[in-house]
Amino acid sequence: MSLSTVNLPPLLFFFYFPFFSFSLPISGQPSNPAVGVTYNSGATHLHRPERVATVLHSLNLERVRIQVPNPDVIRAFSYSGISLLLSIPNSLIPEMASNQSNAQRWLSDHVFPFYPRSRITTISVGNDVLDSSPRLANFLPHAMRNVHEALHKLGIRKVSVSTTFSFGNAITTAFPPSAAQFQESITESLVKPVLDFLAATNSSFLINLYPYKLYRSDPEIPIGFALFQEQPFNFRDDMMSGVRYRNLFDVMVDAVISAMELAGYMDIPVIVTETGWPTRGGANEVEASMTYAEMYVDGLVRHLKAGIGTPLRREGVAETYVFELFDKDTEQGGAESEYQWGILYPNMTKKYGFDFSGSVRVGGIDGVLIILLACWLLLSLEWKR
Ligand SMILES: *[C@@H]1O[C@H](CO)[C@@H](O)[C@H](O)[C@H]1NC(C)=O
Ligand SMILES: *[C@@H]1O[C@H](CO)[C@@H](O)[C@H](O)[C@H]1NC(C)=O
Ligand SMILES: *[C@@H]1O[C@H](CO)[C@@H](O)[C@H](O)[C@H]1NC(C)=O
Repeated sequence: MSLSTVNLPPLLFFFYFPFFSFSLPISGQPSNPAVGVTYNSGATHLHRPERVATVLHSLNLERVRIQVPNPDVIRAFSYSGISLLLSIPNSLIPEMASNQSNAQRWLSDHVFPFYPRSRITTISVGNDVLDSSPRLANFLPHAMRNVHEALHKLGIRKVSVSTTFSFGNAITTAFPPSAAQFQESITESLVKPVLDFLAATNSSFLINLYPYKLYRSDPEIPIGFALFQEQPFNFRDDMMSGVRYRNLFDVMVDAVISAMELAGYMDIPVIVTETGWPTRGGANEVEASMTYAEMYVDGLVRHLKAGIGTPLRREGVAETYVFELFDKDTEQGGAESEYQWGILYPNMTKKYGFDFSGSVRVGGIDGVLIILLACWLLLSLEWKR
């Protein structure tokens, strides 16, 4: 048996798709996969929202997730070409659950007057309700249904409704990803009703996911694994699924996908609503630095734009929002927090180098491999003639 006749078809199959998806960003399809940023618009006194929209556009950000949206901010993104994910504050969940007209009122103030000039795509009913008040979880599925129905009554059918979980409060374990589950205490009461709703309405699962926090909590995780560094020994194998992981982000995303599959939901899209790396942290957090933040954001964007998905899901995450545009406390004019996650200084200049444009820099081992494979494929096709 010669190598070329036996091995060619599976090799072709395996390598063709990664190669193909590398060419997608080059051919100018910016929405696949989408990268955005989280914007805490609580303090508009520092920057006019129109100015923020302009800056996001110049940074090539296609999407913004607006925490605590107010009408002026939503209006500022009219005709900007930037898609919006809006969060409804946790405090409004009980009233939205109790009476649909409360949901309708919020939508009449924040969505109806601006849509579709402001390209609102998703509304998250609350953010990490388990953290702010577990009591809210009882109201959540009902509030989501009311927001969805109220949107339809306003004639808006293309805005999807979801809620945002956080990895730490929702998922039992990250490793191995195939063994991940939803926390037992919330699976029946909260997660399943939410997943039922998402499946029925074609909506996505929203999750805040921080490799930084997992890295901090587990001394066995090498820093390079958390920072997308491509080094020969930077991998972990999931013995149960037989899959190899080269970065912690994919481990966490696949843990979410495994947990959903175990609960019986196979193809709900995943949106990472927050991920990032702090430029400053608490005492002894030496990894909270400009250098590492730059490596994380740069590695994340390159990984996403490569379009190779995660080991368990070829299409990967649907959207990812870097946390966050400005440091929280300087933006609100208060005392500076120990933690700084912002990618911009208050004067709107970049804190460190990043590039959301999606220009593919195929380099290092990947680039050489792809070129060799392309040559090999061409040659073997020639030989077959
Ligand atoms: C919901 O609120 C509306 C307007 O405030 C009110 O007319 C209606 O009676 C309320 N419905 C229920 C079930 O409380
Ligand atoms: C969900 O998407 C599928 C396929 O795109 C479509 O056939 C279906 O009607 C959609 N369902 C809803 C509720 O939008
Ligand atoms: C913006 O602020 C940063 C940090 O305060 C400073 O280092 C930088 O020089 C400023 N840039 C401009 C153009 O003002």
